[in-house]
Amino acid sequence: MNKSIVILGASQGIGAALVDHFAQLEDTTVIALSRNLAKMRGRFLQKNVSCHQLDISQDVHQQIAALGFASPIDILINNAGLLVNKPFPALTHQDFTESYQVNVIGIMEATQALLPQLAADAHIVNISSMGGFQGSLKFAGLAAYSTSKAALCAFTELFAEEYKATSLRMNCLCLGAVQTEMLSAAFPGYIAPTSPAEMAQFIADFALNNGSFFNGKIIPVSSSNP
Ligand SMILES: NC(=O)c1ccc[n+]([C@@H]2O[C@H](COP(=O)([O-])OP(=O)(O)OC[C@H]3O[C@@H](n4cnc5c(N)ncnc54)[C@H](OP(=O)(O)O)[C@@H]3O)[C@@H](O)[C@H]2O)c1
Repeated sequence: MNKSIVILGASQGIGAALVDHFAQLEDTTVIALSRNLAKMRGRFLQKNVSCHQLDISQDVHQQIAALGFASPIDILINNAGLLVNKPFPALTHQDFTESYQVNVIGIMEATQALLPQLAADAHIVNISSMGGFQGSLKFAGLAAYSTSKAALCAFTELFAEEYKATSLRMNCLCLGAVQTEMLSAAFPGYIAPTSPAEMAQFIADFALNNGSFFNGKIIPVSSSNP
């Protein structure tokens, strides 16, 4: 049966690799969302991919209503993210509000707006970070980013509790380092052990096959310690 998959934050990095991965599977319809429509249209030429502009930093409900998604969505991957790397004293009010708006408030609003289009047994996968996972190794400069990613973890637990009487599932993957544009900009010169395509394969397998085994779980996806 055809599966409809929505990827939020699809223009580059892990999100773009997720679109590539899902698009080459049989019987999939992929909806790619991000601010940069031209970039997505230039990259995703597959017939089963449609690209739409969405900025989750503002008017999320109005933008999603205007897009008018019709079909039931089987998988929603909330992958959009913003990383600000600055020493704590240098973080501005705008750094805090933008980080929280994109990494948690916009994700919650997009999820709210898409709820009516979700299939009864849809699997929502939030993409958080090891920095937002309690007890993990922390990195200086990531106070705005990692606290907002921790809030995304908490949202996952709260949503699962609120919808536990339904077949909807939400889980959260806390990723370790992946070699993307975000990582290169934040940590120049650092070489991550994982490529976007490798991580996309893991996330896609998890999203497709594990919805019935996990709900409201915060899962570290990292081979480092702690
Ligand atoms: N790379 C890593 O090492 C790593 C580790 C842990 C967690 N993560 C998480 O994994 C996810 C993907 O990261 P990445 O490394 O692939 O980052 P990336 O290369 O910077 O890509 C981020 C994506 O989010 C989209 N986005 C940003 N702001 C947006 C907004 N206001 N509205 C809609 N879309 C927006 C971007 O698209 P537009 O600019 O076109 O809008 C882009 O497609 C993020 O949530 C990140 O926090 C990454």
